Amino acid sequence: MDEFKTVHSIFSDDARNMQAIHASSVDLVVTSPPYPMIGMWDELFTQLNPQIGRYIMDNSPDLAYDLMHQELGMVWNEVYRVLKPGGIACINIGDATRTVGGEYRLYPSHSTVSASMRDIGFYESPSIIWRKQSNSPNKFLGSGTMPPGAYVTLEHEYILIFRKPPRRQFSGTGEKKIRSESSYFWEERNQWFSDLWENVKGVRQGLSDTETRKRSAAFPFEVPYRLINMFSVAGDTVLDPFLGTGTTTLAAIASMRNSIGYEKEPELCNRVIEKALKGTESLNEYLEKRIQRHLDYVKNAEVKGSAFSYFNEHHGFPVKTRSERDLCIRKVKSIHPGSSGNAITAFHSL
Ligand SMILES: C[S@@+](CC[C@H](N)C(=O)[O-])C[C@H]1O[C@@H](n2cnc3c(N)ncnc32)[C@H](O)[C@@H]1O
Repeated sequence: MDEFKTVHSIFSDDARNMQAIHASSVDLVVTSPPYPMIGMWDELFTQLNPQIGRYIMDNSPDLAYDLMHQELGMVWNEVYRVLKPGGIACINIGDATRTVGGEYRLYPSHSTVSASMRDIGFYESPSIIWRKQSNSPNKFLGSGTMPPGAYVTLEHEYILIFRKPPRRQFSGTGEKKIRSESSYFWEERNQWFSDLWENVKGVRQGLSDTETRKRSAAFPFEVPYRLINMFSVAGDTVLDPFLGTGTTTLAAIASMRNSIGYEKEPELCNRVIEKALKGTESLNEYLEKRIQRHLDYVKNAEVKGSAFSYFNEHHGFPVKTRSERDLCIRKVKSIHPGSSGNAITAFHSL
């Protein structure tokens, strides 16, 4: 049976200068930066540029906001340098609201990031609004139930999508085979390529580090997993310059992609490696559920009289479209420490 190997490197370093990564060597970037003007990230931004802290103390939020985006902008420049032409960058970002000097204000980071990515030379694609599950007790901010001073509640974040031109081409039998094996299911296509994602859930990550995940504002596993499968093929290299708890590394392993992560906190990097080394079982559980969801979809559709014209030989189930015939979900066979301390190796097979 064929066995594949992927390599995952984690650098405890500053993503404003990703000197360990060659220019034009990465196929996809999936990331979520610290969000400007969200209080939990003030200290981090102040470490990156002490002037930011002074502007916050001086009640100069607009100047602080601009400098925060200036720091993120250095990473976006690096993202452009390391992406291959045709490579894609997906940035999960939320806007922030904050009351400064008695005035309640919105800081629209999604539009600031869009503008700076376009200035760098990226082409922007339609974005996804990710509606978070929220039981917000503060639905009515401002003047409660009296007009006109109440504010709409922020319950969504954005996934902005950019491409470094020109469009990627696939040539030769090998590349075309990998591309068709990396197909997703018809029903996933309909859900994943919708511009509104709701009820996106996490996955049991094999570690009881819920507190760390909360403190580092981790995104649910499903977010990088979908994006990696939508915008890259097996064997590609995925980069997350703001790796945090390593959700992108785990999603890359489950998707049979290589990965690189940058994270400035050394302690988080060690945890990512520890967590990944223990991840085989929970990642396979996730992949089995993905296959089971397809089987349930087939069963329900057949009950309703829908016909499936194609058959997937790898897995032995019916599929809706021609390209899904080659779709191949390989399980994670094992995960090992790599040759250097900051790398891990994963093996994959059917
Ligand atoms: C929003 S969190 C990312 C969470 C991640 N998506 C996850 O699922 O765990 C942002 C991370 O970026 C890191 N960070 C911020 N600025 C950085 C920089 N210049 N270089 C590298 N890492 C940075 C922070 O330490 C933090 O862990």
